[in-house]
Amino acid sequence: MYEFILALHIIAVLVAFGPVFSYPVGLRAARAAGPAALATFHRGQVLLVRYGAFAALVVLVAGIYMALDRFSLGDPWISATFLILIVLMGLYGAVLGPTERRAAELATAGADGGRPSPEYDAAAKRLSLVMTMASVLVAVAIILMTVKPGA
Ligand code: HEM
Repeated sequence: MYEFILALHIIAVLVAFGPVFSYPVGLRAARAAGPAALATFHRGQVLLVRYGAFAALVVLVAGIYMALDRFSLGDPWISATFLILIVLMGLYGAVLGPTERRAAELATAGADGGRPSPEYDAAAKRLSLVMTMASVLVAVAIILMTVKPGA
């Protein structure tokens, strides 16, 4: 049972946070294809953020199960990752969801031929920054989970 929950935990990590790492490639390709492609890209991201938030809940529940079964929620590598996951869930719900929705609207509104508006560029810059922060947080979480410092 424990190994099955561990597999579920890792699959949910992939679903929740895998798209964070492919984000720059998708954004770049959509930008090269023009404003309509950018709008489609950001609409797709809105859906991914929604699935990701659900998968993050699965990461949390499976993680708590394993922590209570074989470790302790007070172990520093677990409590630190717990905090990282809460920050990531906050970023998804409070920043990424609304900003992706806004970017989808801005991508075509006010576009000058093949060039999106400066408002869109500002939103895209904010999204890239948040995605970079999220990538670093996920990488740190994976290192904490596998190295288990202090265990
Ligand atoms: C962004 C958040 C998280 C990521 C990326 C993540 C990733 C991982 C990975 C890759 C493993 C496999 C490690 C290994 O088998 O050596 C793992 C295991 C584990 N995770 Fe997480 N995790 C996250 C959040 C959490 C949270 C919030 C908890 C607890 C509240 C948790 C508890 C555990 C436990 C107890 C294990 C099992 C370790 C073992 O049996 O060796 N994880 N996690």
